[in-house]
Amino acid sequence: MAEFRHETARLILRDWRQEDWPLFWEATNTPAVMRWLGGVADDAQREAAQERLLSYKRDHGHTFWALERKSDGAILGFCGLKRCNQQGGPLGTMEVGWRLREDAWGQGYAREAAIASLDLAFERFGADEIVALTVARNEASWGLMRRLGMRRREDLDFPNADFDPEDPTIIVYSIDSEAWHARND
Ligand SMILES: CC(C)(COP(=O)(O)OP(=O)(O)OC[C@H]1O[C@@H](n2cnc3c(N)ncnc32)[C@H](O)[C@@H]1OP(=O)(O)O)[C@@H](O)C(=O)NCCC(=O)NCCS
Repeated sequence: MAEFRHETARLILRDWRQEDWPLFWEATNTPAVMRWLGGVADDAQREAAQERLLSYKRDHGHTFWALERKSDGAILGFCGLKRCNQQGGPLGTMEVGWRLREDAWGQGYAREAAIASLDLAFERFGADEIVALTVARNEASWGLMRRLGMRRREDLDFPNADFDPEDPTIIVYSIDSEAWHARND
């Protein structure tokens, strides 16, 4: 399958390389980054997560891509597209997701990568609608969803205690092609 690579002003979204993984985990497997993602991952969880990311690429041609900063080649985390595969969720629907190292937060990187991902989803990967999933206490994540013009879809929320046992609901946002192309930001 052809290698994927897409540039934005400051970032490269691209397929994973073997040498990315240690850098990715070192920068992102921290209590702050993993706060709403089940906590710091152990070896087995990291291995399984890598395998999932590679399988999305194999199965669908897209994944949560490695996010490389152009200026210094640093791996900032990931952003990209998968098909929703969470039990109880809108299975099969295109899903956008993001995870960035903490020292890169607040500089518009996630938004820049997410805009590229949504453009790619609609223009290249044939999406009609894109969802994003998080928990209510992950304000940064749903803040970004709102900033992108995604709308809250309480009708699609579903129970799951893996990420926030105190509030065991996955909340869903979505945007369709028409709304994405009509936005003005
Ligand atoms: C969510 C995350 C990717 C945001 O990354 P980021 O690069 O800091 O985000 P950006 O700087 O591009 O911000 C874009 C928008 O997101 C929203 N946002 C970002 N951080 C926020 C925060 N702490 N609180 C509320 N909204 C926030 C804002 O609307 C912001 O737009 P603005 O700068 O115009 O106000 C980052 O916090 C992260 O990696 N968190 C840990 C991993 C994670 O939880 N991933 C999501 C799992 S569902």
